Amino acid sequence: MLAQSHRILKSPETFTDRIRTQGYAFAARQDHRLDGQYAGSLQAFREEYGQFPLDPHLNAGEGFRARRYGRFRLDAATGELAVFPHAAFFQSAAFDVLYGDIHRRFAPLSRGLLENEFFLNLIRDDFSTFPLTAEERGQDFEINVHLIRIAAVPGNATGRPAPEGIHQDGYHYGVSRLFDRQNLSGAESRVHDLRKRVIDRHTLLEPTEAMYMNDRAIFHSVQPFHAEDPSRFANRDMLIALYQPLAVSPQPRATALGLTPSGIAGYLELADRLLFK
Ligand SMILES: [Fe+2]
Repeated sequence: MLAQSHRILKSPETFTDRIRTQGYAFAARQDHRLDGQYAGSLQAFREEYGQFPLDPHLNAGEGFRARRYGRFRLDAATGELAVFPHAAFFQSAAFDVLYGDIHRRFAPLSRGLLENEFFLNLIRDDFSTFPLTAEERGQDFEINVHLIRIAAVPGNATGRPAPEGIHQDGYHYGVSRLFDRQNLSGAESRVHDLRKRVIDRHTLLEPTEAMYMNDRAIFHSVQPFHAEDPSRFANRDMLIALYQPLAVSPQPRATALGLTPSGIAGYLELADRLLFK
């Protein structure tokens, strides 16, 4: 069973206030408490990105993207996380014009991710930073987790964010957190008001820097990036976690598996049998 976490943000209430009043908040690397307990598992988490399979859902000219996807259940009463059996990801075209209204098969979470103390505590800790409404409080939430490496390679030196353009993600809350950027310039994050005017901009530069969002209060976008040295590989590694009450999820009903050795084994076996590689 997952050990009880301590708070990863040093002063979470500051971020809760900012998200409540502005609709978003940027967190710097030094706003996190990452020494001690998490040093090893944070490093192991970052190394996972080098093992991701390629994303098969790319349009021509979009470059290279590798990713994994998973969906968790967060129990309101106990604070416990459980993972849903791996399934295709569905998103409405209302929120993603390029890929919406189709089911996309992404690679499942790995054993290394499902056992990673930093990763699991982070997605739970971030949930407790959101300024929940009275209606949301006490509800079980789902967490859709996208781990994405976008790369630029020699001969194709531009990396494009996913999704492109000014958008909302279609959830209640979200966090986009950087875990690596190598050999690249650009990828500025922009915050837009509901009339899509830019109200803030910031470039995530250091591992664990993040943007917290009340998804329904703002729009957001990310600019493309370019390899600084176009003869070498460039990559940007992100963790995007999207939260909403389970009751409003469009995903089919399923029973979540506990993050125990047998629950994790069951998840991996099912993903393997269904050929989600
Ligand atoms: Fe987004």
